[in-house]
Amino acid sequence: MFDASVYRQRREVLRSRLDKGVILLFANDESPANYLDNPYPFRQDSTFLYYFGLNDPGMIGVIDLDEGTERLYGYEYTLDDTIWMGPQPTLTARGALCGVGDAASIGDAAAAIRSWKKAGRQVHFLPPYRAEHDLKIQSMLGITPADNAKHASMALIRAIIKQRSVKTDAELAEIESAHAVTRNMHLTAMEQTRPGMYEYEVVAQVKRAAFAGGGGPSFTVIFSVHGETLHNHAYGNRMVEGQLVVHDSGAESATGYAADITRTFPVSGKFTSVQRDIYEIVLKAEESSISAIKPGVTNRDIHLLAAKIITEGLKSAGLMKGDVDSAVEQGAHALFFPHGIGHMMGLDVHDMENLGENFVGYDEKSVRSEQFGLASLRLARALEPGYVLTIEPGIYFIPALIDTWQSENRFSDFIDYTALRKYREFGGIRIEDDVVVTESGGKVIGKPIPKEPEEVEQTCRH
Ligand code: GLY
Ligand code: MN
Ligand code: MN
Repeated sequence: MFDASVYRQRREVLRSRLDKGVILLFANDESPANYLDNPYPFRQDSTFLYYFGLNDPGMIGVIDLDEGTERLYGYEYTLDDTIWMGPQPTLTARGALCGVGDAASIGDAAAAIRSWKKAGRQVHFLPPYRAEHDLKIQSMLGITPADNAKHASMALIRAIIKQRSVKTDAELAEIESAHAVTRNMHLTAMEQTRPGMYEYEVVAQVKRAAFAGGGGPSFTVIFSVHGETLHNHAYGNRMVEGQLVVHDSGAESATGYAADITRTFPVSGKFTSVQRDIYEIVLKAEESSISAIKPGVTNRDIHLLAAKIITEGLKSAGLMKGDVDSAVEQGAHALFFPHGIGHMMGLDVHDMENLGENFVGYDEKSVRSEQFGLASLRLARALEPGYVLTIEPGIYFIPALIDTWQSENRFSDFIDYTALRKYREFGGIRIEDDVVVTESGGKVIGKPIPKEPEEVEQTCRH
């Protein structure tokens, strides 16, 4: 964790941006996998982590805006806990680690919170995403799970997004350290993959590289010769010569910051000329999008730039036709590029998504489109220095989507369905890097990971 002063200062900023009332920030709880004592790996709530830095389950952080005080509610570990878990710091010691001088037993939290509510005080909480939080809010504030999202504090959501969107140098260093491990995960995958291996055999090595970095994966590894399935979490295919692998994975730093990288490479170590042609289009879209990043530019425009480059490329390849700008405006390219160009990244791989994707990625100047493809853009608003985002264009050949569009004769002015037939087994290509917005542009985070076709082939060379 960072020095206590970091968390103290973060809470001060938050306090200065809200008026009155009392803020509740819930830590996550242990989540049983198949029985109580066999939980899933514990992952702290990222907002709790941001303001309090502690990895203990079950705590509640309280920031009282009216009194100007702070308190941590938590468990005081017992001798019995020490026997099973080893020595644990006292509650007071844990408070000191994050600069909170007042710690109290979690058993006292409910009564205190109920009394604030009874006194008519404004109690700010975030929209829960775990059932345990639903139940706590119901028992402490009398708000049912069905209703609690609409009672969540918009003022708190907005203030937290504003603060967490801009990464400090210390946070960037953490993201860089996650990236360094992620780089190893990707080099490992390229170096280890051979025709005849099963995907899970490589995934095992990718995860080994993640854990060897001291953290672990920042999200479920995507590794598939069926890259046309955007988030494919099944690893049962035996890989054969001629296929492409989409590998999308990242590591988490010791303090919980993520990296998120995608590389696509040939199982055989050598692209076919058809694969390489499509690959070059995605690469151009990715590099041009990164070059276009600077403060004030909207990420919607970056997305549309990538869409335009993809459409131009597919037109040159004979798969699209007609006027490129009209095709992009009407969304014809989304047959091949059905997702957004990227998302914020930080303590969450899709940073702050639990606070509401539209609040993170959109504002009063950027309304979310309902058009297929553009509707999936998670971040559309203007970029600011300190934002960290992913840039991840792709081209996919999704048989079910192609068949549906073709049967509807959809965008037949822009799509050559006959030429597409040869690509049914192609799979998909995605290339993703993590970028920090600087005062003057966009800087790719971390040491380069091979993405030029020759570098990829060199790395895959068996
Ligand atoms: N790793 C999921 C994504 O790229 O958004
Ligand atoms: Mn990714
Ligand atoms: Mn991503």
